[in-house]
Amino acid sequence: MKIAILTGGGDCPGLNAVIRAVVRRTFHSYGGEVLGISDGWAGLIEGRLSPLDLRAVSGILPKGGTILGTSRTNPFKVENGVEKIRENVGKFSIEALIAVGGEDTLGVAARLFEMGLKIVGVPKTIDNDLSGTDYTFGFDTAVNIATDAIDRLHTTAESHNRVMVVEVMGRHTGWIAVEAGMAGGADVVLIPEIPISVDEVCKLILRRHQRGKDFSIVVVAEGAKFQDKDISRMIVQDEKVDAFGHVRLGGIGAILAHAIEDKIGFETRYTVLGHIQRGGTPTAFDRVLGTRFGVAAADLVAKGDFGKMVSLQGNKIRAVELAEAIGKLKTVDMELYEMASIFFG
Ligand code: F6P
Repeated sequence: MKIAILTGGGDCPGLNAVIRAVVRRTFHSYGGEVLGISDGWAGLIEGRLSPLDLRAVSGILPKGGTILGTSRTNPFKVENGVEKIRENVGKFSIEALIAVGGEDTLGVAARLFEMGLKIVGVPKTIDNDLSGTDYTFGFDTAVNIATDAIDRLHTTAESHNRVMVVEVMGRHTGWIAVEAGMAGGADVVLIPEIPISVDEVCKLILRRHQRGKDFSIVVVAEGAKFQDKDISRMIVQDEKVDAFGHVRLGGIGAILAHAIEDKIGFETRYTVLGHIQRGGTPTAFDRVLGTRFGVAAADLVAKGDFGKMVSLQGNKIRAVELAEAIGKLKTVDMELYEMASIFFG
């Protein structure tokens, strides 16, 4: 069999584990070959593919990023994008495609499957917001990086009696904020799912200070929203939208830090973790999950079971319909958030 694989959307630690697993499983178990598509859907539209042999995937397991490159190209927004994909699938004699990505990349995969292409999806996002799977790889690494940052900010916050606001990624959901906040002992966590007022945040900080603590850690997801009328919009760095209609988020940490200082007078600083959360070496958990997903994706192709996405359910790898995964976002489990909030203030 001849498979082509692409990685689309934001990069994510663990992508190379998936690529390596797909190549090794396909080669060793099925005697097949794999082509690597450069830069997501863009490479398939433009015919930029090259063979991925065992040598090409040797030594990539601990590496962050993706050896294939990635992009946020949407074939449905490119002139004749879908036709060009069809042409290249024929030209390179591709029997099946493996698309590794989040809601956008897999959304395209689901539409192309409906149009007759043989596709299997692998869920990827540090945001952990894809339905149909308990976890996406990359999330664990991001949570560990954010937790380490919170630990570091703790000691400087304590030394200076300051409030530290930490802005983490999470466009639509607050999974990173909640888990890193719990792991790092945050005093308030703000997530997109639950708009919160600046007054409420200040109340929690004051409560903590009344019981003798002179510093606080506030974790805020970049996509969080305030109840306060003047700042209730989504805080963006840039209003321009990408090919999937997303604006570039960022800046909520600064706004919140200023609001806290203005309201209660505590010296406040903010830190934006940004893409540091996506870079560098994946945790063991993400390498193992990426490897399991890659093997399972190659197995689905071998079985001819297309239109599916590999997923983690409990501790088992299963296949779900692509349509199920992209149907709706997996928002933060409210039981988990309530558990985190026991430790606020
Ligand atoms: O979807 C993953 C993610 O890391 C989001 O948390 C974040 O908003 C976005 O990607 C950033 O995208 P870019 O890499 O295009 O700046």
